[in-house]
Amino acid sequence: MILFNEKCDLLPVYESIKKFYLLGSATERNELVSHADMRRSVVRFNRYFLLIATLYILASCNDQNKQVTQMQSKIDSLQKQLAESYKPGLGEFMSGIQMHHAKLWFAGQNQNWALANFEVHEIQESLDDIRNFCQDRPEVKAMGMINPTVDSVNNAIQQKNLQLFKNSFISLTNTCNNCHKATDHGFNVVIIPTNSPVTNQDFKTVQ
Ligand code: HEC
Repeated sequence: MILFNEKCDLLPVYESIKKFYLLGSATERNELVSHADMRRSVVRFNRYFLLIATLYILASCNDQNKQVTQMQSKIDSLQKQLAESYKPGLGEFMSGIQMHHAKLWFAGQNQNWALANFEVHEIQESLDDIRNFCQDRPEVKAMGMINPTVDSVNNAIQQKNLQLFKNSFISLTNTCNNCHKATDHGFNVVIIPTNSPVTNQDFKTVQ
């Protein structure tokens, strides 16, 4: 039996069931319904209807409470999982950037523009990740100063211009150090690499 319509409006449904009930019992007995009979039926019907409606409402309220409790405990456990999940720190991102910075230099020196293009975008991605994942570090506010120099390195790579690449790489490196100074990490000094950071990668262009 459906007690609620879409708007949770009980009355129209109630009225139609009542009419149906009275008509049904009269036609079953194949007789005319007397006024007294009709009143008795209505009273009986009202009593049952109210009882069923109350039970139904109580049951659905209880169900809703159960659902809310279940959802709350799900949210609590997800929050706990999130708090305990691994998140790289600023220093780890910087170590990654340090490696890409060195590889970028050797790629450029070898005029391996495809690799240089790859490395400069790895630096860009790590900087974006820092902005997303290290918002709790106040130093991140100073990050903007690096953007123009990353752009000019990228520009030199797109132009495949070695001299422009060298100049822009030097200003990139200076900006790394400027930010370290501005954020009380001036003891982390970045230089133009003298040797490849790895021995297991070839920086020459693939023929
Ligand atoms: C927001 C300004 C900022 C910019 C721009 C920046 N750094 Fe850093 N860097 C920091 C801070 C802050 C730390 C210290 C992180 C920590 O607390 O672990 C750091 C640490 C480092 C470290 C030490 C990592 C370690 O744990 O040993 C290296 C290497 C480094 N940066 C390289 C670079 C390079 C290369 C660039 C440029 C391509 C650069 N950084 C640009 C702020 C910056």
